[in-house]
Amino acid sequence: MAQDTPKAPNPDKPTVAVLGPGGVGGLLAALLSRAGHRVVCLATDATAEALRTRGLRVHSGQFGDFTAAVEADTELREPVDACLIAVKATSLDAALSRIPAQTIGDTLLVPFLNGVEHPGLLRAHYRPEQVAPSAIRVESTRVAPGEIEHGSPFAQIDLAGDPVPRARLDALAGALTEAGITTQVLDDEVAALWAKMSFLAPIALLTTRYGVPLGEIRDRHREELTALVTEAAEVSRACGGPADPDGALARYDAFPPGTKSSMQRDAEAGRPLELDAIGGALLRAADRHGVAVPTASRVVRELGTTGA
Ligand SMILES: NC(=O)c1ccc[n+]([C@@H]2O[C@H](COP(=O)([O-])OP(=O)(O)OC[C@H]3O[C@@H](n4cnc5c(N)ncnc54)[C@H](OP(=O)(O)O)[C@@H]3O)[C@@H](O)[C@H]2O)c1
Repeated sequence: MAQDTPKAPNPDKPTVAVLGPGGVGGLLAALLSRAGHRVVCLATDATAEALRTRGLRVHSGQFGDFTAAVEADTELREPVDACLIAVKATSLDAALSRIPAQTIGDTLLVPFLNGVEHPGLLRAHYRPEQVAPSAIRVESTRVAPGEIEHGSPFAQIDLAGDPVPRARLDALAGALTEAGITTQVLDDEVAALWAKMSFLAPIALLTTRYGVPLGEIRDRHREELTALVTEAAEVSRACGGPADPDGALARYDAFPPGTKSSMQRDAEAGRPLELDAIGGALLRAADRHGVAVPTASRVVRELGTTGA
């Protein structure tokens, strides 16, 4: 495998920490390291040790196969320019102890978690203007500690953060774009998060509920899919996000029939599900805004009951 990482990071480029070097975090860390950034991965003892010894190994149709050297530690010990947060929602509380508020200084915190409630949690721990909730469109899997398979032919980021100074978002977007990830800065954080949530929630919930890929959901559960997409769009609209159920359905129809959601893959592997961060958050937002979501309520309840 090619070792593309320059020997020493370029001190003129922003230093980036990555909390949770898994499917998303590992890919971003490796690409930024390859582009010359100093990258510090924050991980459990075992994963940090694997990264120090073997680096991050990426297999990607889009970016090629390469190994990137990164620093690795179990917690952040100095302020850096940005800390990308890429743990699952189910690990977020525990993982935040690795970025102590008294240590991070002015570090920009950039969570890539799916869902809409984690920015509130982060802003309760840290200063609101240093939290930049962002969305990533990618399919990337941690197959072993430090080993990442990037399966999608794309990796796109929407950076947002209403109280964050625009220049900080622009600088990070420039670094990510230069590293190969198409990145745009959006003006409206709520719209960015709900655009992702309202598109993702219906397929995550239904593919996991029925244990079948998207093609079968489209064909055999069309009515339920349409109802769920409509409900998610209504909740998004009520929260100040976009609402385009027909557009979402058309995009689902364009996906390969074998497409699986990451929640479904977690269920298949027996890992904890981000059910509360996605389904639970959708129901809570619907409740707050008085939007009726009978289909979502039933599917979330059934998922909770089956423990899928
Ligand atoms: N993967 C995708 O394609 C994708 C696409 C869009 C959005 N997302 C969202 O991105 C987020 C991350 O997903 P992912 O698929 O990248 O997850 P993942 O592959 O499971 O990676 C999560 C990483 O977090 C680490 N971790 C867990 N608990 C930790 C702790 N307490 N301290 C330090 N590190 C800890 C894990 O460490 P170990 O390696 O040591 O287990 C793992 O490396 C999720 O919210 C997901 O919905 C994912």
